[in-house]
Amino acid sequence: MEYKDLKGDIITDKISIYNCDCMELLKQTPDNYYSLSLVDPPYGIGAGMGVGLHSKRKFQKAAKDWDKQTPTAEYWQELFRVSKNQIVCGANYFMEHLYSTKSFVCWVKNNPAPNFAEAEYIWTSFDVNGKIYDSKKQIQHQIMWEGGSIHPTQKPVALYKWILENYANPGDKILDTHLGSMSIAIACHDYGFELTGCELDEEYYKKGIERVKNHVSQQRLFDI
Ligand SMILES: C[S@@+](CC[C@H](N)C(=O)[O-])C[C@H]1O[C@@H](n2cnc3c(N)ncnc32)[C@H](O)[C@@H]1O
Repeated sequence: MEYKDLKGDIITDKISIYNCDCMELLKQTPDNYYSLSLVDPPYGIGAGMGVGLHSKRKFQKAAKDWDKQTPTAEYWQELFRVSKNQIVCGANYFMEHLYSTKSFVCWVKNNPAPNFAEAEYIWTSFDVNGKIYDSKKQIQHQIMWEGGSIHPTQKPVALYKWILENYANPGDKILDTHLGSMSIAIACHDYGFELTGCELDEEYYKKGIERVKNHVSQQRLFDI
């Protein structure tokens, strides 16, 4: 769909990305327009500085305050209004806005340091059994295979691909309201899904767009 007065980039005929507040995009979206919202909003824990020692060192000069607060109740109402199904990363930070569900994904992180979280809880609206995503068992999981990190809370493309394999159907229209590094755009492009997304921060937006464009153009070279 076309969003009025939002600054954005059409990366391919299936990937449209906007540099805006997600509420602006949500307000213009009709009811149940998206098949699936797959979102990773701010957890309200100050992760704009980076999480973990390496990430803190890398991102401390560019510390940002986007992770001070979690999204408002209005955001959650809009998210459930515009999409038929929802998947929410970091769900333990948003429980008051979600409902009881059969289907959580437990992402087993296998982090090296003892003070890191061992798992992340991903809430889904699907009526299927809970699943485990164990990064150690996923051959494609290594972040260095994805060109390094450009965002303090960047999720692996491999995780998004696994989620799409398990929860999306061909032809689904996907929405991500908080794109960050745009790993999800790479996963959606590789798997042929339509994605609409937005990112508020201009610096993350520019870096993410560059990352996705590079990926798409490298793949085109590969296809020749
Ligand atoms: C947890 S991060 C997303 C990380 C992403 N999943 C990834 O793999 O890189 C949340 C992102 O939401 C952005 N953000 C915060 N408030 C926003 C808003 N109101 N609208 C759109 N983006 C927002 C932040 O700048 C940040 O990049």
